[in-house]
Amino acid sequence: MTFRLAQISDTHLSAAHPEFVANFDRLAAHLRERKFDLVVNTGDISAHGELAADDLHFALARHQALGLDWLAIPGNHDVGNDPAVGGKTPADAPRLRRWLDILGPDHFLRDIPGWRLIGLDTLITDTDLPQAEAQFAFLQQALDGAGSRRIGLFLHKPLCEQTMAETIVTYWSVQEAPRHRMLALLRQANVGFVASGHVHQWRDRGHSEGLRQVWAPAVAFMVGDTWQHAVGEKRLGYVEHLLYADGRHECQMVEVEGLVRNDLGLMPHAYGPQPVLAVAESV
Ligand SMILES: [Fe+2]
Ligand SMILES: [Fe+2]
Repeated sequence: MTFRLAQISDTHLSAAHPEFVANFDRLAAHLRERKFDLVVNTGDISAHGELAADDLHFALARHQALGLDWLAIPGNHDVGNDPAVGGKTPADAPRLRRWLDILGPDHFLRDIPGWRLIGLDTLITDTDLPQAEAQFAFLQQALDGAGSRRIGLFLHKPLCEQTMAETIVTYWSVQEAPRHRMLALLRQANVGFVASGHVHQWRDRGHSEGLRQVWAPAVAFMVGDTWQHAVGEKRLGYVEHLLYADGRHECQMVEVEGLVRNDLGLMPHAYGPQPVLAVAESV
């Protein structure tokens, strides 16, 4: 039997942003109709969870109302961002505690026929929080114990912007040191795919540097070309993953009828004005 998984991402839920909630509710109805076996939200589940608890509670309630089995990992708008990026809301102990208290664990392991699904909190990987070290131990153990199962890995930030060898401190991907640490573990495992969010652009990277990499589109909004460079496709929707017990994997982006193509650049009330012709820092 084929396991059908819907990867949704960047839902940015908040009672303060009905435009984003409307997209989520439309998507939720679509996913319910299609009776997915599992929904995985790859982060930025909330709009402002890095600032206060309200949006995390709101996002939790909306996901509980899905009526489907679901899992979530945090994004920078849920637990704060990589401290190296230098923003005002770094991932730290209180922010992580807030997620753990409201949403539960920030990483997961789920075994299904032929596959071991692993979700990680990429926002703490470049911090000195004890949970960061514990998560690397969890990853090692999860990979070592996978047996004949293939690995499906879910992250908020992609492993890199363009190439695993890049050395930039970047808003857009896992930072250099934790990237190489994760890669050293992943290279020794049977990884079927790495699926991420955060960029708000759909990009099927195919097999790149030995890993099948997929960037999910956002649900809540895209960022127009005036404010964010196009590196993929600025469409809204989700990724359908088909996981076969023999280890085969297929995926495709699905557009959902009725989703409104919100442009963050035209919505300064959400995250403030976006810098023109620069890399936006609000997704
Ligand atoms: Fe993000
Ligand atoms: Fe986002």
